[in-house]
Amino acid sequence: MSGADLILGIESSCDDTAVALVARDGTVRAANVARQDHIHADFGGVYPEFASRAHVASILPTIRETLERASAGPEDLRAIGVTRGPGLIGSLLVGLNAAAGLGAAWDVPVIGINHLRGHLRSADLEAEPIALPALVLLVSGGHTLLAHMKSRTDIRILGTTRDDSVGEAFDKVARMLDLGFPGGPALDRLARDGAPSVPFPRPLIQDGLDFSFSGLKSAVARYVEQGADASAEEIAASVIAACVDVLAAKTARALGQVDAVTLVAVGGVAANSQLRDRLQTVARDAGVALRLAPTQWATDNGAMVALAAWDYIEAGQTPPPVGQARLSLEEF
Ligand code: KG4
Ligand code: ZN
Repeated sequence: MSGADLILGIESSCDDTAVALVARDGTVRAANVARQDHIHADFGGVYPEFASRAHVASILPTIRETLERASAGPEDLRAIGVTRGPGLIGSLLVGLNAAAGLGAAWDVPVIGINHLRGHLRSADLEAEPIALPALVLLVSGGHTLLAHMKSRTDIRILGTTRDDSVGEAFDKVARMLDLGFPGGPALDRLARDGAPSVPFPRPLIQDGLDFSFSGLKSAVARYVEQGADASAEEIAASVIAACVDVLAAKTARALGQVDAVTLVAVGGVAANSQLRDRLQTVARDAGVALRLAPTQWATDNGAMVALAAWDYIEAGQTPPPVGQARLSLEEF
C-alpha cells in the first residue's frame, strides 16, 4: 500500500460503535460495527447512559479489528475523521476521546465531522460519484429533511420536521405494536404482509416542504388504544404508507422548485423497502436520476464519516474533535 491514503472513520453518535477505513474514491477497505441492539431492546429505545458505557468497552477493539482486517497501520492514515455531532453527548465523547488520543499517539490529524454530512455522502460509497446538483432526502432516527446540494460543500436545507422525525415515528409505532428494537426494520418487514387499510393522517401533505409526524404517531396510539380492528400487519402497512405518501409528495414538490439532476435518499429510513420503491416513481416522473444509499450504508456507519472527512480536507475545513450535541447539516 502507498502510504497515508486512507481515512479512519469513527462513528459513536448514538447506539452503535462503527469504524471504517475509506480511500478518497469511496472504496471501503474495511468496515466494522459493534451493535448495541441487545442492550437497548428492553427499553424500546436507546438508553443513553448504557450506550456510552458500551461504546467505552467496544471502541478500541473495534478500531483495532478494522485496521487488522485491512492489514493497515497508522502510517496508512491521512487522517482520522470522527463524528463530533449531532448526537448523544456521552456517546459522542467516547469516539472523540479515542480519536484524539490515537491521533496524538500516532501523529495523525483528527477532524471532527458533522454526522449529517456523513449521511449525505453515504450514497457515494463504493459507487460512481453522484451527479450534482442534487435534491437530498435525509431520513433517519434523528432527522427528516430535504436539502439542495449544489456541490459537496454548498448545501442548503429546504425543509425539515417541526416535531418528530419519521424514524422516531416508526420506532414509537413499533413499540406500540411490541415489535422490539430497533423498530423501523421490524415495521418494514411486518408491513409487507399487510394492506394499508387504515386511513391514518398525512400531516402537511398539501403544504410546503416542512414535515410533522407527531400527529400521525398520536393517531396510531389512539387507534391501538381503542382496540384496533386491523391486524398488526395492516397497521404497520398503513403507517408506512402514510409516511411514504408524505415523503414522496414533499420530495416531488421540492424537485419542482430547485435545479437538480439527481434525487438522493440517505439515512436509516432510506433502507425502508416501501420508500425505496416509491422514490423510483418520484424520480422517474421528475426526470432525474435516483441514487439510494446502499442499505448497508443507509444506517449509521463509519465509512460515511470517513468519506465526508475527505471532503473536509479538500475544502481546507478541519474542525477539532470537540462534541456538539446539536449541529445543522449546513455547517461543516
Ligand atoms: O441513520 P440512522 O441509523 O441513525 C440516526 O442517525 O438516527 O437511522 C436510524 C433510524 C431508526 O429510526 C430506524 O428504526 C430506522 O432508521 N430504520 C428503518 C429501517 N431501517 C432503519 N426504518 C424503516 N425501515 C427500515 N428498513
Ligand atoms: Zn445517522
